[in-house]
Amino acid sequence: MPLKLNNFDPHDPTKVIPLDPDAPQHAAMMDDLQGNILKGHGRHHTAHIFIKFGKDPTQARKWVKKISETVTTAFNQRKIALARRKALDSGENWKETTFRGFVLSAKGYQALGFKNDQIPSDPKFRKGMKASGQDLNDRPSQEWERPYRDEIHAMIILAHKNEAILKVESRELRDDIENTKGALKEIATEEGRVLPLDKNGNIVEHFGYVDGRSQPLFLQEDIESEKKKEGIDQYDPSTPLSSVLIEDPNGGKESQSYGSYFVFRKLEQNVKGFKDAEARLAEVLKLKDEEAERAGALVVGRFEDGTPITLQKSDGMDVPAFNNFNYHKDRNGSKCPLQGHIRKINPREQSQEERGHRIARRGITYGKRREDMGDRPEDGVGLLFMCFQADIANQFERLQQMANATSGGLDPIIGQKGDKKIPLQQQWPCEWAGENRNTQPFDFQGFVTLKGGEYFFAPSISFLKSLG
Ligand code: HEM
Repeated sequence: MPLKLNNFDPHDPTKVIPLDPDAPQHAAMMDDLQGNILKGHGRHHTAHIFIKFGKDPTQARKWVKKISETVTTAFNQRKIALARRKALDSGENWKETTFRGFVLSAKGYQALGFKNDQIPSDPKFRKGMKASGQDLNDRPSQEWERPYRDEIHAMIILAHKNEAILKVESRELRDDIENTKGALKEIATEEGRVLPLDKNGNIVEHFGYVDGRSQPLFLQEDIESEKKKEGIDQYDPSTPLSSVLIEDPNGGKESQSYGSYFVFRKLEQNVKGFKDAEARLAEVLKLKDEEAERAGALVVGRFEDGTPITLQKSDGMDVPAFNNFNYHKDRNGSKCPLQGHIRKINPREQSQEERGHRIARRGITYGKRREDMGDRPEDGVGLLFMCFQADIANQFERLQQMANATSGGLDPIIGQKGDKKIPLQQQWPCEWAGENRNTQPFDFQGFVTLKGGEYFFAPSISFLKSLG
């Protein structure tokens, strides 16, 4: 029986019937699906090895087939995670494992000898990220870092808890690529590393804010755990599979082979510029001392510790990085401005249509900081932004376009104007929930720069194994 991707409850179309990984049909699908799609791999160090295939597709295919033996399936990712938790809970030793993933660009399919009609059909994927530059107000690709100006055919992700082990495995794999004598070559390797966790054990990004909290959930057990933690009655993260999976056109197992489109963007963060602008915004809004924290929270939509600004005027909510909220009691944006990053790209309306725009974010920070994060680099650090989805135009590109939309003000973190001359639109509330809607204009933008990227597809395991 084919998997029901549009898995809304027929009796209550506002609810999703999530995936039960123990059900045989779902387990079989997860055994042919790559990990990291339905749920993040959770390791704190990553290597992203970008590859270009040579002129001989036969050699390249053989190599990909060999690699496919090491790719982590969604089924195994879960099995390992459950065994790890059990071992750690009962005080047993646990040997950490490496996560491996493999994604192909449309040019990569072609270089492996696939014809256009055999390549996954998303038009945005087939054309590649550079072709979307105008639609996204991206910097011209001639200004990207050199390796990204070139054609990229594939990327391998390695991830491990331990940086030293990861480095050895990454070196071995890159040596192996070199030994293929031109059948493929490494064109760049990016290293992701999670920054020191905050006091509540949460992951933060370089501007200092908790990140990765709000995610679409697909597995029954993840939704159950969210229900227990803080409820899902104000914001339901359960999301249909049709937002993240498509049937792999080249899959080897009928009705069981799925894949997902994968967006990669290297986004550099100017930490000094951002922090200085936060301080200037606080001055403009006359927010002093402890209240000054609110300036940054207006920009992000959450305080640094993750407290949503639409719920309270200062940080420190009991449950860190609370996610069961919406903006129904803040329609005019007097608590969280409409342009605040998390509000601009997720108004939390929860209709079937809105859930269809969600992306499974799987990014990781890159670049080194001082141990205490007291430094404020202007370049060399940022986010390796990554996300999975079923439709690039309707999901990643739509979100980036919402961020770029000037009505209500540009998204102050990721909004891009391109070379368009756009008058200042952002208005910032001076008081939290102030009744007179007293606002001040302030231009907050330009601290995130695109350094390069590409659109990929994470194919089914049976497809990878069929190469060669
Ligand atoms: C360097 C660039 C970026 C930074 C610093 C950043 C930062 C953040 C932070 C701090 C959060 C709040 C944590 C959370 O709710 O999980 C967040 C949430 C989010 N971000 Fe970004 N982000 C960046 C790029 C992007 C891009 C390129 C997109 C997509 C086009 C994006 C989409 C989202 C989404 C969908 C959420 C969740 C919103 C919600 O459901 O409430 N972000 N981001």
